[in-house]
Amino acid sequence: MRLSHHVCVLVFATGSLLPAMAQQPPAASDCSMSIQANDAMQFDVKTVSVPATCERFAVTLRHIGRLPKNVMGHNWVLTTTADYKEVASQSTKAGPAKDYIDASDARIIAHTSMIGGGETSAVEVDVAKLRQGVEYTYFCTYPAHSAIMRGTLVLQK
Ligand code: CO
Repeated sequence: MRLSHHVCVLVFATGSLLPAMAQQPPAASDCSMSIQANDAMQFDVKTVSVPATCERFAVTLRHIGRLPKNVMGHNWVLTTTADYKEVASQSTKAGPAKDYIDASDARIIAHTSMIGGGETSAVEVDVAKLRQGVEYTYFCTYPAHSAIMRGTLVLQK
């Protein structure tokens, strides 16, 4: 009687500890991403899933091409997919002096700097601004680049 009671307690304790331990590693290691852009107007990552456990999501953009920012500039700009076409259009109007970013545009959730070949720029996304079930699009606001330089981002469930 006494022995079987002991076994029951041990099984219960182990069962309650395992799920918490299994959830820890992904949250610690997946709150960042690297993305490359090249002289052919391409991002090397097309879809991103942000773990809901992250408070901040760090994005590092590397321009691995050789062309300067005034002819092949790239940035990484995040909006909802519903907003991205209009924001891309507004950003073009902001012009090269503002690196094609309208700083007053509240639809922009996060953005890196505009960079040329060999340069790197990073930004942290405030994950509290993302909603599950909403699709986000990241793109480059250099004129005409967003037609092919874009990808989608979601908040993981
Ligand atoms: Co670009």
